[in-house]
Order: sequence, then C-alpha cells, then structure tokens
Amino acid sequence: MLSLAVIVLLAHPEQLQALRAAPASINNAVEELLRYITEPQTSATTRMALEDVELSGMTIKAGESVTVSLAAANRDPAVFEHPDTLDLSRSKVRRQLAFGQGIHMCLGQHVGRLEPQHDIVCEQRTSSPLLEGLRLISTECSSASCAARRLAFLASAINSSVGSKV
Ligand code: HEM
Repeated sequence: MLSLAVIVLLAHPEQLQALRAAPASINNAVEELLRYITEPQTSATTRMALEDVELSGMTIKAGESVTVSLAAANRDPAVFEHPDTLDLSRSKVRRQLAFGQGIHMCLGQHVGRLEPQHDIVCEQRTSSPLLEGLRLISTECSSASCAARRLAFLASAINSSVGSKV
C-alpha cells in the first residue's frame, strides 16, 4: 500500500501539493489512495451461497461461489464520480471496499490505514516538504506482476532521488 501510495502521489503532483498544503486531510487522502490503488489482479474476494440467492436477475444456487472484484467496485461510476480520477478531497470515499465487506472484512484494516497515515504525517513533519527529492522517472514496466511493477516504480523513484543528490 505504502509503496503504491508513494508512486501514485508522485504521478499526481497537483494532488501531492494539495496534501502538503492540508496535512489534516490525511485520513480522507488515505481512503482515496486505498480506493484508487486497489489492484484488479490481487483484490478479489469469494463468498459461497449457503442457500439459493437472487442477485441482479441471476440465481446463485446453494454451494456455488461468487468472486467479487473489489477493484471494479472501487471504480464503480454509480458510486464514485469520475472513478478513474485520483481526488484526495473526494467526499464519501469511506464507501470504498479495499478491505472487503461483511463478516470477513480485513482484520488488519486499522493497521492498513495507520501505516500510510503515520508515515505520510511523519514525513510531513520533517523540515522538507512531503516526498521531496523523489520523482518518477518512468511509468512503464514490462512485468505483469503487481509486486514486480511496484518494485520497479519505487526503484525508479529512489534512483531518481539519489541521482539528484550526487
Ligand atoms: C492496505 C493493506 C491491506 C489491504 C488492502 C487488505 C485487504 C484485505 C481484503 C480485501 C481481505 C478480504 C476481505 C473480504 O473477504 O471481505 C482481507 C482479509 C484479511 N486481512 Fe487484510 N488487508 C490489508 C492489510 C492487512 C493487515 C496489515 C493484516 C494483519 C495485520 C490483515 C489481515 C487480514 C486477515 C486476518 C483477513 C481475513 C479476515 C477473515 O477472513 O475473516 N490485512 N484483507
């Protein structure tokens, strides 16, 4: 979450600037980052019907399972206006589903939220502006793997930062 949040903020300098100007908006910003970052490849959850269920005109029979894309839910235009746009000041972003929903909702969601809130706020408290010295040098990555992609992007950002100081 944190590495992707850094990449996304670096890729949206106007949003990063707004966050620097209003650090008290960090909680809403983290919700929007969670919504925007939810990855299609990894963010799905499965439920099994215990009895026949009608859903959107279809019958899911008892014993059948349904896989729900949380990434698609988080980009649902019926819920989020301009869902493909990162807007750290978005209202009602608490409706995002990065941590799932219901009885199996993520048990670590408070840690998941606290980590970026804490790290971004601590960074903000240092004398230099948030994420200063980091810059994305590429948004291209040939790997289909999420983990490899975020590592490649972060390496680009760090290399750039180191490069700017030598
Ligand atoms: C940003 C970070 C995280 C994200 C996006 C995330 C996302 C998710 C999602 C989507 C689920 C499935 C929810 C569902 O089926 O409705 C889940 C389940 C779970 N998560 Fe997380 N998680 C994160 C961090 C953590 C952390 C830090 C912990 C532990 C300290 C944790 C522990 C768990 C556990 C134990 C479950 C299973 C809950 C159950 O089945 O009842 N997660 N998480």
